[in-house]
Amino acid sequence: LAAHTGMRVGTAVDTSALANDATYRAAVGAEFDTVTPENVMKWEVVEPEQGRFDFTQADTLVAFARAHKQKVRGHTLVWHSQLPAWLTSRSWTAAELRPVLREHILTEVGHFRGRIWAWDVVNEAFNEDGSLRDTIWLQVLGPSYIADAFRWAHQADPKAILFYNDFNIEGVNPKSDAVFALLTQLRRQGVPVQAVGAQGHLDTQFPIPTGIVQNLRRFADAGMDSAITEADVRSVLPVDATESAAQSAGYSAMLQGCLLVRRCLSFTVWGFTDKYQWVPGVFAGEGSAALWDENFRPKPAY
Ligand code: XIL
Repeated sequence: LAAHTGMRVGTAVDTSALANDATYRAAVGAEFDTVTPENVMKWEVVEPEQGRFDFTQADTLVAFARAHKQKVRGHTLVWHSQLPAWLTSRSWTAAELRPVLREHILTEVGHFRGRIWAWDVVNEAFNEDGSLRDTIWLQVLGPSYIADAFRWAHQADPKAILFYNDFNIEGVNPKSDAVFALLTQLRRQGVPVQAVGAQGHLDTQFPIPTGIVQNLRRFADAGMDSAITEADVRSVLPVDATESAAQSAGYSAMLQGCLLVRRCLSFTVWGFTDKYQWVPGVFAGEGSAALWDENFRPKPAY
């Protein structure tokens, strides 16, 4: 199906599992045509001390992807989470922090120049009601940090597709309305933002988002590409047959949405096996969010 539309199918990759688990490694190489580093391109990993950059783990994944003819989604440059302590444990003025952000983006994007297909430049900048999230970036730099980040990323790698990425923006709602309004406004101002990423973290306790196709299409109609960037569908454990069916329906709704919108470039799952999956560590009592179980057996959703 994907080959017909040009849509790519990807997964987030846990680089320690990639190094240590041969079954995992074989599946990443065989099942997907794009990969996203789950953690190793984040700020706390790549710039653990101010001005000292470490791309060792990310380079390993980029080399794996090249060997398997896969494209890489870079993730992520500007976020409020997984920041190093040197950045969060002191106060900054705008005049101090702006060059820190600029240097981080130019160095990281520059390091991978020509090898990253798409960058999640800004991640999770909005609240559910459509207001901007109260982060170090907004507090110190004001809302212009978003435009700056896209300009610097574009300067460092003009060919990478630059994404704004967030959760709960799969369907039409106040948050996706706000993202749409901001991105269309930035593009009118000439800011190089080309695409929107809907993370796609669903939960079988809650309804499947409504208006997925309508939402992705409005971005397409405004000249933007899109992607499902972090799909998973979790449940309260243990999972029964109804939840298993609901999981299949959730994955299907997102996959069909992407297949039905020509400008939806890729469908990426946030881990493909429950053996290495972030949900149990973050959502107490929940899990079983991936397409394969912890023994690499495909579930009905697969
Ligand atoms: C998660 C990883 O999966 C975890 O391993 C890590 O401990 C925390 O971050 N939205 C995002 C991702 O954009 O970067 C997050 O990844 C999941 C939510």
